[in-house]
Amino acid sequence: MSPIFGQDTLDFISHSETQTRRLGARLAKFLQPGDVLALMGELGSGKTRWVQGVCQGLDVSEPVNSPTFTLVNEYQGRLPVFHIDLYRIATSAEVLTFGLEDYLYGSGVALIEWADRAEAFLPDDYLTVALYHLEQTKRRIVLRSHSQRSISLLAEFKAAAFAQQHPS
Ligand SMILES: Nc1ncnc2c1ncn2[C@@H]1O[C@H](COP(=O)(O)OP(=O)(O)OP(=O)(O)O)[C@@H](O)[C@H]1O
Ligand SMILES: [Mg+2]
Repeated sequence: MSPIFGQDTLDFISHSETQTRRLGARLAKFLQPGDVLALMGELGSGKTRWVQGVCQGLDVSEPVNSPTFTLVNEYQGRLPVFHIDLYRIATSAEVLTFGLEDYLYGSGVALIEWADRAEAFLPDDYLTVALYHLEQTKRRIVLRSHSQRSISLLAEFKAAAFAQQHPS
C-alpha cells in the first residue's frame, strides 16, 4: 500500500496506570461512530487500562473488565462500545466464526485488545495503540494513524494535547 499523506504517530511515556487511563479518556472525546482502536502490546502492558480510560471518557458507567467467557463485552456510553479481546483466539478462522466484522462498521466504537492476532481482518482504517512495557510502572504508548479518519482523529487529539501544553 502506498503511503497516504498525513499518516502519523504520537508518542507518550506513561508513568502510572492513572496516566494511561487518562490518556485513553482524553482520546475518547474525539471518537466517532465506526472508529476502531487496535491495541497491541504484551501481557500486562496496559491495554485494558487504556480501554477503561476510553470507556470512562465515553461516559460508560458500568465497570469495565476484559471479556473472559466471551470475546466481546458491550457497553453503552455516549456511543456503544465493543470491547473485544482476541487473546484466546487460536486461529484466524476463529476470528471469522466469531464475526469480528459485525462490530466494526456499525454505530459503535470497537476497542480490540491483541488486534495483531487478527490484522488481516481489521478494516482499512483504524488507529493503532501500541503499548510497550519499559519499567514496572512506565509504559511507552504509540498512537499510529493509517488512513483518512484515523489521521484526522490523531490530528485532533494532537492539537488538543498541544493546546494543553501551551495554553495561549
Ligand atoms: N503506566 C502504566 N500504564 C498501565 N498499566 C500500568 C502502568 N504501570 C503499571 N501498570 C500495571 O500494569 C498492569 C496492566 O494491566 P492490563 O490488564 O491493563 O494489561 P493488558 O495489556 O490488558 O494485559 P493482558 O494482555 O493480560 O490483557 C496493571 O496491573 C497496572 O496496574
Ligand atoms: Mg487486557
